[in-house]
Amino acid sequence: MVAREDINKLIEATDMYALVSPYVKLIKSGSGYKGLCPFHNEKTPSFSVSQEKHLAHCFSCGKGGNPIQFLMDIKNISFMEAVKELAKINNMELNIDDPNAKIEEERKKYYDLNLLAYNLFTRNLFMTNEGKKALAYLEGRGLDEETIKTFGIGLAPKDGKMLYKLLKESNFLELDMVDVGLVKNVNDNYVDFFVNRIMFPIRNERGKIIGFSGRDYTGSSEAKYMNTIESPIFKKNLVLYNLDLAIPAISKNNRIILHEGYMDVIATYRSGLHEVVCSMGTALTTGQIKQISRFTKNVILSFDSDSAGIKATYRAAELFIKEGFNVNVLKIDKTKDSDEFVKKYGLKTYYDYFNSHITTFIDYVYNDIINNLNVNDIFNLENSKKNLFKYLNLYHSNIVLEKYLNLFSQKIGVSLNALLNDYNKLNNNLNYEPEPIISNIPKKNKEEIYLYELRIFEYAKISKNKALEIDSKLEKGNNFVGFKPINERLWQELMNYYNIYDEFNEEDFITLLQSKNLYDDYYHMIEDNEKYKEKLDLPYSEIDLEECLNKLVSNSNKNKLNNLQKTIVEQSDLELKKELTIKKFQMRKKYERN
Ligand code: GTP
Ligand code: MN
Repeated sequence: MVAREDINKLIEATDMYALVSPYVKLIKSGSGYKGLCPFHNEKTPSFSVSQEKHLAHCFSCGKGGNPIQFLMDIKNISFMEAVKELAKINNMELNIDDPNAKIEEERKKYYDLNLLAYNLFTRNLFMTNEGKKALAYLEGRGLDEETIKTFGIGLAPKDGKMLYKLLKESNFLELDMVDVGLVKNVNDNYVDFFVNRIMFPIRNERGKIIGFSGRDYTGSSEAKYMNTIESPIFKKNLVLYNLDLAIPAISKNNRIILHEGYMDVIATYRSGLHEVVCSMGTALTTGQIKQISRFTKNVILSFDSDSAGIKATYRAAELFIKEGFNVNVLKIDKTKDSDEFVKKYGLKTYYDYFNSHITTFIDYVYNDIINNLNVNDIFNLENSKKNLFKYLNLYHSNIVLEKYLNLFSQKIGVSLNALLNDYNKLNNNLNYEPEPIISNIPKKNKEEIYLYELRIFEYAKISKNKALEIDSKLEKGNNFVGFKPINERLWQELMNYYNIYDEFNEEDFITLLQSKNLYDDYYHMIEDNEKYKEKLDLPYSEIDLEECLNKLVSNSNKNKLNNLQKTIVEQSDLELKKELTIKKFQMRKKYERN
């Protein structure tokens, strides 16, 4: 604690112009100064500074205030930190009795331990031989050196004891190394917790490293990511990855983007959207929401496009809305996640896609319902209706209610009155729980097709002849329209590979893929091979190959016809429409003959 008089003296002693001018270009105005607010985007200056009153604040967004408040806001520090900083600036001695300071003092050793580990990990990535392979992996995933450095990515040594030895030499206690999660005790031996993993440092909102997440990049581990254990400074359920780097943009743009994974955060950040965070792969907690609400009440949820991501979106949206947030959704449906989107289409396309595809959560829900609607199926219809009611209820707004019930009533050809009656009836019975809206989930037969694709790749690895034979049956890749579009690219690369080599060799193939930034996609394929091991582990036979090819060809024919049909429907030029329709009939005839 600091005495009230001391605080007042501190404020009185402050030269406001000198304090603010590093952050804001000030111009004289009346008895004080004016400038563009550093806390929000604006074109005309609302930020006002008064030397006499010792105030620096924004008339428009309300941020800032006395010099302590200004420092707290601009540097995102606590009251006590701001007081100490101001005392330093003004050369004043303060009598401080701060319980928080004691806790931070206690924690200092943990931060120091993490910092040492961080330095080792980054050195190991950039300056050693083992680092080269990891760097190649990161480059393969599209990360340049600048990005790797911005996010402080490193590599935990293969050695397995190197970090322990370093910490020991630096006179840290084993007890503390274990507590902070860097070292573990195995059979009375101290060893490193993270071994041969790509290391993502996790920082708190002040930029202090509180833990790490390590990604396996060699495919040798069951767990893709490993996190620091719970420790005095690392509470996984409260972590928002990248919050420290995101805060200025969150304040400036008054919104936050929430992703599922680190790689998505990095991709979005690189595209220029800096107000982006994610949790540690765990379900969102109210603790995290409370933290976010200190900075903004506008959130954009952008989770993976698989069924887990969709479920997480609904769950998170409910929690946020209940905490008074304005919830928007960015639906990535061209790829699994933002990281893959950027990889595939580039940063600029992603940035534009992002800004033009954000919808309100209720629009997202409504579209999901409409996309899964089948008015001829009474169960589907009733369930869609209940889902709509359920999510509309979150808004407590008659405007929202009536707008969407109106749309829905027109869609299904039922009067608004009938819908409202049902709505009132159901709301008197609060126990109704609709089946979740499920969309975008790969259908079972899609998964089957994917398995055929995986198998074809395995067969093509047997020999060059086999591969060429398959390729010609697939009409030189033209027929490879399957579950994952990226597999078309990988197939092309496999053919390119056989142009150079006569036998398949995994390492050479990977080198080729790395040169084209496709290694990650191949890695996903290998992961899936593991996942579907049971179903794929068949001895090679001509009959099986034949069946795979038939399925793939007929599936791709079906896809081509569907795509053509879509083009026909969207075509407004009648002449072209006719031409395309004829083409479709010819295509269908041809496919039926085969
Ligand atoms: P990449 O595969 O590296 O692109 O990661 P991702 O972010 O796409 O991974 P995914 O969508 O599978 O998972 C999202 C988040 O869940 C990750 O960023 C991690 O935080 C977490 N996660 C994923 N796999 C694991 C795991 O095996 N263990 C733990 N503890 N967390 C995981
Ligand atoms: Mn990913």
